Amino acid sequence: MSRKYRVAIFASGSGSNAETITKYFENHPSIIISLFLTNNAEAGVIKRGKKLGVPTMVFSKKNFAERDDVIKVLENMHIDFVVLAGFLWLIPESLIKAYPNKIVNIHPALLPKYGGKGMWGHHVHEAVVANKETESGITIHFVNEHYDEGETIFQAKCEVTSSDTPEDVAKKVQVLEHQHFPKVIENTLLNL
Ligand code: GRF
Repeated sequence: MSRKYRVAIFASGSGSNAETITKYFENHPSIIISLFLTNNAEAGVIKRGKKLGVPTMVFSKKNFAERDDVIKVLENMHIDFVVLAGFLWLIPESLIKAYPNKIVNIHPALLPKYGGKGMWGHHVHEAVVANKETESGITIHFVNEHYDEGETIFQAKCEVTSSDTPEDVAKKVQVLEHQHFPKVIENTLLNL
């Protein structure tokens, strides 16, 4: 039996996607969520990791962008694939090179619209409502050196009504995230 694919999840915030993904892969025959990583010592993902039995590395800008400390941990843990689930920092070239086409990100909008620097979380949904969009959704894509510009893997849409607030849109989008992200990760990994 070949060893399992080991997956690391980066998150800067609550970690609801990290938790949903971890639960999806519990007892999976060939994929295991081996590590959470966060740049935010207050992130909710840390508590979720403790509850789920997944170790979490908290790292600084220095560890991440100036030195190879994070890459070294990923390699020491034999990580095969990296998932960004609400991770707000740009991925350094050294990490992209260490994991070519093996880093995926989820964005809470239909890229290329509402993407790029500063477009995260509520900022995205506020812009969607302000522009009177009639739909929004999620984009799952490979990660390259530029924010939200890697090759798209998957998109799903939800309706936005004229009475929807940004919070309403965020809720609809989160349902899509939890519904699709684990499966897209599985399909992408198993077709690498
Ligand atoms: C999600 O909206 C995701 O699309 C975006 O950041 C948020 C993460 O939410 N990249 P959570 O921390 O997984 O709850």
